[in-house]
Amino acid sequence: MTLKNSKVFITRKLPNIIEKRMNELFDVQFSEEKKPINKSLLLKKCENISILVPTLGDKLDEEFFNKVGNNLKLIANYGAGYDNINVKEAQKKKIIVSNTPDVLTNDTADVTIALILSITRNLPQGIKKVKENKWLGWSPTEIMGNRIAGKKLGILGMGRIGQAVAKKALCFDLKINYHNRNKLHTLTEKELQATFWTNLNHMLREIDILSIHVPHTPSTFHLLNNTRLKLLKKNAFVINTARGEVIDETSLTRMLQLGEISGAGLDVHENGHNVNPRLKELENVILLPHMSSSTEESRIEMGEKVIMNIKAFIDGHSPPDKIIPNNL
Ligand code: DGY
Repeated sequence: MTLKNSKVFITRKLPNIIEKRMNELFDVQFSEEKKPINKSLLLKKCENISILVPTLGDKLDEEFFNKVGNNLKLIANYGAGYDNINVKEAQKKKIIVSNTPDVLTNDTADVTIALILSITRNLPQGIKKVKENKWLGWSPTEIMGNRIAGKKLGILGMGRIGQAVAKKALCFDLKINYHNRNKLHTLTEKELQATFWTNLNHMLREIDILSIHVPHTPSTFHLLNNTRLKLLKKNAFVINTARGEVIDETSLTRMLQLGEISGAGLDVHENGHNVNPRLKELENVILLPHMSSSTEESRIEMGEKVIMNIKAFIDGHSPPDKIIPNNL
């Protein structure tokens, strides 16, 4: 396979500079879609290509892999998370899968911190008051929030993004607590002044702010179920910039409605863009459209990673961001 005769299909509109570069390098077909591609159309496209560039929301499930022909050799996902792809099924068909880690770590961590500050200090209420001309001037008791300095931040999932959040949170004097499959190296733990909790339930009882940074897998689906959410303090806040499916959103909504928890900052939602209407009605919730990694820089760097993964593959090398089966 050479660069110019490698047929590539990209399921979604990407930054112009990336599309231009891909056009120079590969025999590429673009979709101008701004939403996930329909499965039968995708299967049809895959009949004539060897490389597919899908992204979040494009569901490559067991059914897709059962039906896809033998031409497809590489799936270079435009995204760090790859819960849209059944990697085990891809491997059974000897299709390599790669992703785009690292380049969105800092941007995601920035929005996590922004959500922590915004929800604890009631920034949306303040903005609304001014814009709706309801602000009558400074008052000692106006929209009082909660100070975050000295509060306990509980990080669920201490991978790249969790650690970046911890590093930034230290600057705000938050006390770092974390639960993770593995304890961090002692030096990293020391640098982040982080306390490890082997038992997630024990950590949940102690913290003031919970921030989620685990991927969505069968074992993390509803990890924050009703029982676990109930362990949080009444004045705790929940922040999610990872995947909506990790939280039982119905239970969280009920608790927020009943004031059994102080507030939530959610960039991701259990049913994707079909955001729970009851959540939208609540004042103590900030809802974002899955935009925590959305900077011009990260979207271009993600595209560059996709290009590098494809080039390495075509040259007969393992893509640098190949998803390794053991890590699943
Ligand atoms: C990803 O790439 O997985 C991110 O969630 C996009 O923001």
